[in-house]
Order: sequence, then C-alpha cells, then structure tokens
Amino acid sequence: MAKKFYITTPIYYVNARPHIGTSYTTIIADIIARYKRQQGYDVRLTTGSDEHSQKMIAPAEKEGLTPLEFCDRMVPVFKEAWKGLNISPYTFVRTSDQAHEETVKSFFTRIFERGDIYKGIYEGYYCLPCETFWSESQLKGEKLCPSCERPTQLVKEDAYFFRLSKYQDRLLKHFEDNPQFVEPETARNEMLNRLKEGLRDLCISRSSSQWGIRIPQDENHIFYVWVDALLAYLTGSGYKFGQESDHYWPPDVNLIGRDITWFHAIIFPAMLFSADMEPAHQIFVHGFWNQGEGGKISKSKGNVVDPLELIKLVKNDGLRFFFAREIPLGVDGTYSIDALVNRYNFDLANDLGNLFHRTQNLSHKLFGGKVPSASDSTGLFEEIRDLKAAVIKSVEEQNERFNFSASTNAVWGLVGYLNRLIDEKRPWELSQKPERREEIEAIFNAVYDSFKTILALLYPIIPSSAQMLWENIGLKGSLEEIPYRQAIGDYVQESQLRMGDPAFPRIDVKSLL
Ligand code: MSP
Repeated sequence: MAKKFYITTPIYYVNARPHIGTSYTTIIADIIARYKRQQGYDVRLTTGSDEHSQKMIAPAEKEGLTPLEFCDRMVPVFKEAWKGLNISPYTFVRTSDQAHEETVKSFFTRIFERGDIYKGIYEGYYCLPCETFWSESQLKGEKLCPSCERPTQLVKEDAYFFRLSKYQDRLLKHFEDNPQFVEPETARNEMLNRLKEGLRDLCISRSSSQWGIRIPQDENHIFYVWVDALLAYLTGSGYKFGQESDHYWPPDVNLIGRDITWFHAIIFPAMLFSADMEPAHQIFVHGFWNQGEGGKISKSKGNVVDPLELIKLVKNDGLRFFFAREIPLGVDGTYSIDALVNRYNFDLANDLGNLFHRTQNLSHKLFGGKVPSASDSTGLFEEIRDLKAAVIKSVEEQNERFNFSASTNAVWGLVGYLNRLIDEKRPWELSQKPERREEIEAIFNAVYDSFKTILALLYPIIPSSAQMLWENIGLKGSLEEIPYRQAIGDYVQESQLRMGDPAFPRIDVKSLL
C-alpha cells in the first residue's frame, strides 16, 4: 500500500473572497501535494472554511442572511477559485458540517475527561479580526491588537479554560526532540522564545454569542472559534472517534502563513497532547505578500488581487509559477502586476516557451517532426545527460524542503543551457553539412531527452502547460499518473511531434495600460 502523506492549508474565513494571500497558501499546498503524488504517495490535501468566526455575523446581517446562509453563499466562491487555480482533489471541511461538529465535541469530551478543562471568568481584551484574546500588558498603544494593530474590545464573561500552562515542558521537549517541527528557523525561534516566557491557560469558550458549536457539557457556551477551526484538520483526515482506522492523521505538514503560527505550533499541539494524539510532523510557515508600491501597470489593473482576474492575464500556470519561483517559501515577497507579468514574460514566454517552440519548429523543418536517434562521438550527448542528472538531483533536494524557488532555478539552469546550445550550434546551418549530421542528430536527441525531464519536474507547478507540451513533444499518458522515475527517464518518442500554439504567448504590456 502507498505511504500516506497528509497536508493542510488553513481553513479560511469566508467573510470575503479569496485573495492573493489565501491563493498563495493553497497553490503551494497543491504543488506539494502534486509533487508527493508524483512520488507515489497516497496524498490527502485538506482545506476548508472557518465559519464560526464572530466576524461572519455583521456581513451576513447586512445581506439580510443568517451567518450560515451567508457561508452557504461564500463556500462555492472559494471552491470556484480553487478550480480556477487548478487545485487537485482536496477535502473541503466546512466547520458547520455535522461530521466536524462531532469531531469537535468528541475531542473536547476527551480532554474534559482528562481534567484539562475548568470553568472561570474571562476578563481581558479581544481582537475580532484576529479572533484572539489578549491581556492588557500585551496590547500596543491605544489598546490595539499586537498582531494586526486594530482596536480591541474589553470583554468579561463566563468561560471555560484549557490548562495550556500544564503543557509548557512537554512542548519544550517536543521542540527539542523534533528540530523540523516548525520551519523555517526564524519561526521556530520566535515560538521557542515565547514558549520560554511561560504559558497562560487558554479561554476556549464564549458565552456572549450564539454563533458556533455548543459545548456538549454546557449548552450556554459555544467553542472559541480557534479550537473549533484547528480541529478541522482532524475532521479532514477522516479520523473518527471510536473507530480509529483508515485516516490520514497526523498531518505531515500544516502549511500556514506567519500570522497564525502560535495557534498551530503551541495551542493545537498542547490540545493534542492532552487528548493523547500526535501533532503534525511539521508546521511550515510561509511569508506574506505585500502589495508593491508603484511599479504597477495601471491604476485599474494595479490593484487587482482577485486570483480569478489575474489568471485571465497569465493563466493559472502563470500565477502558480510566479508564486513558486518568485520567493523561497518562508520569506516575504512584494506582489505587483508588473512583477507577475515580468515573471511570465521573461521566464515562461521567453525562456521556456520559446525554447520549446523553436526546437519544435526546427524538428519539423529538419527531421519532418521526428526526433532523430542518437549516436554521438563529440561527447556533447553525454554532457547534456550529465547536466540533466545534476538538475534532477538538485530539484529533488530543494523540493523536499519545499523550496520551489530554488528548484525552478535549477530547472532554468538547464533551460538556459539548451537555449544557448541552440544559439551556438545553429542547427539550421549544421544541417547543410552532411559530415555534421551525426552531431546535430545527437543534439536534438539530447534536447528532447531534457525536455521530457523538464516537463516532469515542472508538472507540480505548471500542470496544464506541462501536459500540453508533453503531448506536443510526442509523448502519451497523463503526467498526473505516470510514475516519477518513468516521467523523468529517457525520452522515447511515442507519436509524431505536434507543432501546437506557443504555450506561453507573450503579454504585451502596452496593451494593458
Ligand atoms: N481562519 C483562520 C485560520 C484557521 S486554520 C485552523 C484564518 N483565516 S484567514 O482567512 O485569515 O487566512 C489566513 C491565511 O491566509 C494565512 O495564514 C495565510 O496562509 C494566508 N494569507 C492571508 N494573507 C496573506 C498574505 N498577504 N500573504 C500570504 N499569505 C497570507 O486565519
């Protein structure tokens, strides 16, 4: 049986449409999922909607809807976006689902029975946008949230608490024993420093609101939204209390943005320890995209952050590629339409698209749409093959660290080499000289051999374009299904080369102004 691999994205607040940030996490998670599937894993990707947020109430009221009706309307908007971005099969957990409610109640009952829950009064500050409790000493300036810097509200209500403080030593030990637990190191160190400052018990219920899952032991309380939300990963894994088999728990990776590390690296693992369950193997914290100042193509286009608008311009592969290539996972990036279009034009249209298009053109002219067989005495064939092997190795190393910026960089080393090779060798001239025929045939053979590898390596990032080019170079089958070793392996032409349209037509920046 195939080894399981479980990856999650945060479950998103659905009070607004998906944007650059949520699309980024989802696309990177999908790239990882596709890469792991290609490697033969049985992959589950969980995403979803975090519906019991108190901030769902106001926008719903404005539309004359209940929060649930409002979420019913927004969930398809998210699913539509993920379809547009070519996200491969995923499990979508709505926190209003019956199955999720059961997970939350069963989980809570277990930690309640362990004696880790007690009743008290919560008095402190609450940030509605972040759905976070803060003590007065943690606030910034005029009682502002230290995370988003927006005003907080003072609240006082009956509440249940989780004995988070009890798990400080266990968490410290877990961090020590598992150096990979939180990546990158900056995020890990930040968590460790905060952890060493000490933990306070966590308020895990609200009695001032009706919108949420009711605590089974006391129906006057609803669960604090983060407790409810984090458990979506468990629901999405297929884990069922009482019949604990055939599920994907624990996650191999929780992929998250750096705004929510504390909940994932400290609070949730402590809750899981209390329930005697394993936390995720790794919490990978990615950086944030900031809107670039200036450098925007036009006023109207400059502010486009709706992913479905962006893909009208660069197709879903253009956006996926931008996210993968522009910044290493874990650091912040600057987003602008200019950066996106330039990335597309330089890397995809000029380098990759052009390489394929002109090689295909030449193959039709010189060899009638067939790739010549190779026997080379100049050593070039071997040189290209060696380079290809080095690139594969480097891509695999970087992909294992989820550094798709470095892995695409390695692939572009090969793309650049092949472009230069064709420029320098000028096959259209060599073909006029019968004594150089063997050399040119070998070059084309090795170039197609590299093409096959390039497409197999880029498949997780640009799945539709890789598949289209795969077929254009005379190969059959779906890259989604072909085992990795076979996909990166030697090129054997299966059908006539197909000319096809350029995979990445250049975007004329002037036409966007
Ligand atoms: N509902 C909670 C998560 C619960 S998970 C158990 C939440 N939702 S959210 O809709 O606000 O999404 C937050 C996530 O969106 C971030 O962690 C990050 O993954 C992504 N991003 C939101 N804005 C972002 C950027 N500007 N840049 C990159 N990603 C960011 O928090």
